[in-house]
Amino acid sequence: MCGIVGYIGERDIKKFLLEGLKELEYRGYDSAGIAILQEGKLLIFKAVGKLENLIQKAKDLKTEGFGVGIGHTRWATHGKPTELNAHPQMGEFSYVVHNGIIENFKEIKSFLKEKQFLSQTDTEVIVHLFEKNLEELGNPKEAFKRTVKTLKGAYAILLITKADPNSIYFAKKGSPLIVGRDKDEVFFSSSDSPLIGYAKEVYYLEDGEWGVASKGKIEIFEGSKRVEREFKPLTINKELAQKGGYRFFMEKEIYEQSDVIIDTMMGRVKEDRIELEELDKEFLEGVENIKICACGTSYNAGLTGAYLIEKLAKIPANAEIASEFRYKEPVLLNNTLFIVISQSGETADTLEALKMAKSEGLKTLAICNVDNSSIVRLADRTILTRAGIEKGVASTKAFTTQVMVLWMLALYLAQENLKKELKENELKAMTKTPLALKVSTSLHERIKRLSKRYLHGHGFFFIGRDIFYPLALEGALKLKEISYLHAEGYPAGEMKHGPIALADPELFTIALMPKNLLYEKIKSNVEELSARDSTICAISPVEFELADDFIKVNNATHYMLEYYEMAVVMQLLAMEIAIRLGNDVDMPRNLAKSVTVE
Ligand code: AGP
Repeated sequence: MCGIVGYIGERDIKKFLLEGLKELEYRGYDSAGIAILQEGKLLIFKAVGKLENLIQKAKDLKTEGFGVGIGHTRWATHGKPTELNAHPQMGEFSYVVHNGIIENFKEIKSFLKEKQFLSQTDTEVIVHLFEKNLEELGNPKEAFKRTVKTLKGAYAILLITKADPNSIYFAKKGSPLIVGRDKDEVFFSSSDSPLIGYAKEVYYLEDGEWGVASKGKIEIFEGSKRVEREFKPLTINKELAQKGGYRFFMEKEIYEQSDVIIDTMMGRVKEDRIELEELDKEFLEGVENIKICACGTSYNAGLTGAYLIEKLAKIPANAEIASEFRYKEPVLLNNTLFIVISQSGETADTLEALKMAKSEGLKTLAICNVDNSSIVRLADRTILTRAGIEKGVASTKAFTTQVMVLWMLALYLAQENLKKELKENELKAMTKTPLALKVSTSLHERIKRLSKRYLHGHGFFFIGRDIFYPLALEGALKLKEISYLHAEGYPAGEMKHGPIALADPELFTIALMPKNLLYEKIKSNVEELSARDSTICAISPVEFELADDFIKVNNATHYMLEYYEMAVVMQLLAMEIAIRLGNDVDMPRNLAKSVTVE
């Protein structure tokens, strides 16, 4: 969601802040700003819209010599995306950037009656409260400590002030914040990428920690207690996070799937079994059912996982949308293994669901792509998806690797009781997945050509059965996210219970028709739609004469291989439609990569 960067040192501060914000663009934002304190002078630049607008505004600014600076990309929560609402938010002599939500901002605002508020944001209360506390306490560190103590909600905060012009004050609760260093320089960011190539060592701040940093010095506190924290080397390679010749990060990430899935399986898929070093007998002792909780694409992977676990391991499993789960007063049983799935590891609803399960004493497992993220730190156990940094807002490789982890988990849970041939069949299919995910030039070309026929119409139905139903959900989600066309994923057998009323030539049905799972059933569902003149695009290894368009996938021997091929087809189709419509594929409107507010 919002992105934060900060810097203390001698290098070109403006350059570091703007480059850092560029790295965070993929998270989604609608305005941006920077503030710099140099030689006692406070400078601020803010702009609505793309970062380019901010870069233009600050183009004459020269920042040489020592200074401190903070920067922010904002995704509006309280107050519209305007320049006044953009961060940094200002007091009389201090500036603040903030990610998260201050839940008690109204109370704080009414307490600060004498202060003049310029924005509609919840963030602005932080800077005024700090200045009021400073008036009373006369010491910036004490004033910041008291400020942080008053705040309720979620936050990652950086604050600079003329009252202590060489320092940055910081605090973290519920939103990610990293502090990095290299000799005398200090860096801050809400995620790794802006720090790559700058900070040698980093520390991922924990909830409740706050502190103050100045040249060569970082003090971290927990309440009033000063704490020493271990900084670890930042080893991630920046090149891996670049676009590398593709038109969009999303395209690069679709093509990468065939490789990253090998990383996901490495050391886990063995010749005769699945090995998951993250799990053991003791941890799974007493587990009689499984609940999976996630949002968006991760939920779609989770639903696939629930089908696979029941199919292979015969353990009752279900998947729930985290934002629903949180408030439905769920009944939690202590023989349940609670699995959360998240690419970012920071999704607020998923994190809260995990907290609920933990507080009820359930065993918890995270399937996540970002090590050290909030969800990973909280869960009892984690299986990392190893997809690498995913920059496109529309998730692709995170999804296919999540599904792979779930498939491995299902087989891991099943393997003691599964017949040898069945187990071998699964393992063999897994090793063929990289091939199923490979994008061939001819397939991509065909989809590119086909995409021009799907730019209008009154809606899309993606339909499938069994695990191809969550895959249909995912296909529809991809399309609507980046093309802004209306699309729904539906269980094919359910169409006749209502949605078929919409069928006409302007209704596009994308039918997932695997040969290895319920082919005859889905075929008759598609025939029903065809009889009502819906325009049908069938994705299948089996020719289907009633289809208006047909995308042939390989004649695989396992339904999961068909699943993966179809996933790629739908990702490419959504992307090519979005490109033809002139949309920003990597940063679709209204969306954020990491949704850290509920
Ligand atoms: C994916 O294409 C979406 N942008 C979105 O649905 C995403 O999957 C969801 O917000 C959950 O994110 P997470 O996996 O980081 O928790």
